[in-house]
Amino acid sequence: MSNVCGPIAFFDSGYGGLTIMDSVRKLLPQYDYVYLGDNARNPYGTRSFDVVYQYTLECVNKLFSFDSPLAIIACNTASAKALRTIQQNDLPHIDASRRVLGVIRPSVEAIGEYTKTGYVGVFATQGTVDSLSYPMELQKLRPDITVVQQACPMWVPLVENSEYQDPGADYFVKKYCDALMSQCPKIDVVILACTHYPLLLSKIRQYLPKSVNIICQGDIVAKSLENYLQRHPEMEERLTKGGTVRFLTTENPHKFKFTAKVFFKGDLDVQQII
Ligand code: DGL
Repeated sequence: MSNVCGPIAFFDSGYGGLTIMDSVRKLLPQYDYVYLGDNARNPYGTRSFDVVYQYTLECVNKLFSFDSPLAIIACNTASAKALRTIQQNDLPHIDASRRVLGVIRPSVEAIGEYTKTGYVGVFATQGTVDSLSYPMELQKLRPDITVVQQACPMWVPLVENSEYQDPGADYFVKKYCDALMSQCPKIDVVILACTHYPLLLSKIRQYLPKSVNIICQGDIVAKSLENYLQRHPEMEERLTKGGTVRFLTTENPHKFKFTAKVFFKGDLDVQQII
């Protein structure tokens, strides 16, 4: 067991976690951050449990090698398929003093505040939908809420290939919005339960009924992390406070910079890792 001090680490299968880290940095700008996108092996959403677990564990270990005491799995698919095993089986052997947190639990805790009809829509990857993480977790906290899920397998490739602002994206955004609402017209809240989807937010807004409130996870995760650090001063003290951000990708760093620039201005420090 070590007591390393270092940055808050973020991991996603690709660019999606940038939407989460952006919100966290706005609320907590004082800390140092390191982000890893496994862009070369994305998407995770269609991969099996074992593969997502293996890739996620490798990436968490890589982030720990940058001395981070706290890693956030800013990916719903990896949170659904790998988080619990890493927390329970792997972390005690790697370093029991470090922590790995996910994005599903804080989202489920917050979602109940937003619905009046009690029908909540969940847009997610096929992997997250099949894991039933959202319906099962909500059932525990708010059994009065009905969850209606819609898998959106084409949305992550649109983001990863920088096609999310193009007119061609409209077809697939409309398709899944219509499919969700036709399952249950009483839905009044939709959660974007894949960290890539906020990049499609303006189009999603266009194709859902105006009465539907769309929830992105960034602010929810940021507030939950702030709360966690207030409750865990022993972890907060181990986070270095220089306000820096560095980016790691398993793909080409120039490609990564293009999308990361949507969120972060200036010359970005992007490094390719294997
Ligand atoms: N951004 C990830 C999520 O939140 C998954 C994207 C992928 O399919 O790799 O679920």
